[in-house]
Amino acid sequence: MEQDSTDTFSDEDLAKFHKEGYFVIPNFLSRAEADSLRSACSRLVADFDPDTITKTIFTSADKKPGRNDYFLNSGDKIAFFFEDEALDDKGQLKVPKEMSLNKIGHALHWLVPEFKKISFSNRVKNISKKLGFISPALVQSMYIFKPPNFGGEVLPHKDCTFLSTEPQSCIGFWFALEDATLDNGCLWFSPGSQAHSTNRRFIRNPDKDGPLTKYTAPPDPDDPSKYIPTPVSKGSLVLINGQVDHKSRKNISEKSRNIYTFHVIERHNVVWDPRNWLQPTPEMPFTGLYENEP
Ligand code: FE2
Repeated sequence: MEQDSTDTFSDEDLAKFHKEGYFVIPNFLSRAEADSLRSACSRLVADFDPDTITKTIFTSADKKPGRNDYFLNSGDKIAFFFEDEALDDKGQLKVPKEMSLNKIGHALHWLVPEFKKISFSNRVKNISKKLGFISPALVQSMYIFKPPNFGGEVLPHKDCTFLSTEPQSCIGFWFALEDATLDNGCLWFSPGSQAHSTNRRFIRNPDKDGPLTKYTAPPDPDDPSKYIPTPVSKGSLVLINGQVDHKSRKNISEKSRNIYTFHVIERHNVVWDPRNWLQPTPEMPFTGLYENEP
């Protein structure tokens, strides 16, 4: 029996989400559900041969064509991305593969049953209805490892830079599969910063001679003093407005910080930016949240 979302996300909670741009719902997943996603991920990693893609590292500033091609075509796949620091100069892994990954993306929600079960659950649908979504689509999903010692810093950003719609509608669902702490790289938010829009977009480069992707503008000015750390316990759901500034520090601890996240956008009277790096494909059009079952 699933929980009723009105128990976990009240009108007051919704008001706080609108005011601050993010909201934490503790115990949204049971420990068993969180563990089921970690187990599913372990299975994917066990079946993964790093030699097939060694040298494919995710960094948002990356300009190497081979890597970007892998990234650019990952929207409808299970693709693996390494931490920069986990590879040596020759692109060989310095640590075991399960300790070297930055993330898996971007179609876990559709292609892997355990992730599909959570992503299209009635709990997620009910929260989305409460958030006001009329015809939402789940456009991408990621498993982020933040491994001990290597888990890299994520610089301040708004998710709409990567997943832009007109008007903006993106909301991130971020599930802690382990405790996220100050030491292992919890989220930090700048409350209320969603009120300040950005023109910065991460797009497919229309210049065929240049890198495959590019930013349309430099990072916006940022005030580190405005950020509040948001440690959460295993099983928590963090709702993230697509326009709120957030970041996370490097994992300096001996504990990983595994999370699962996906992003939902509105389709009703809303236009997906044709410049976005992520575009629906014939194999996987953007998956409607309400009309698909777990
Ligand atoms: Fe983000």
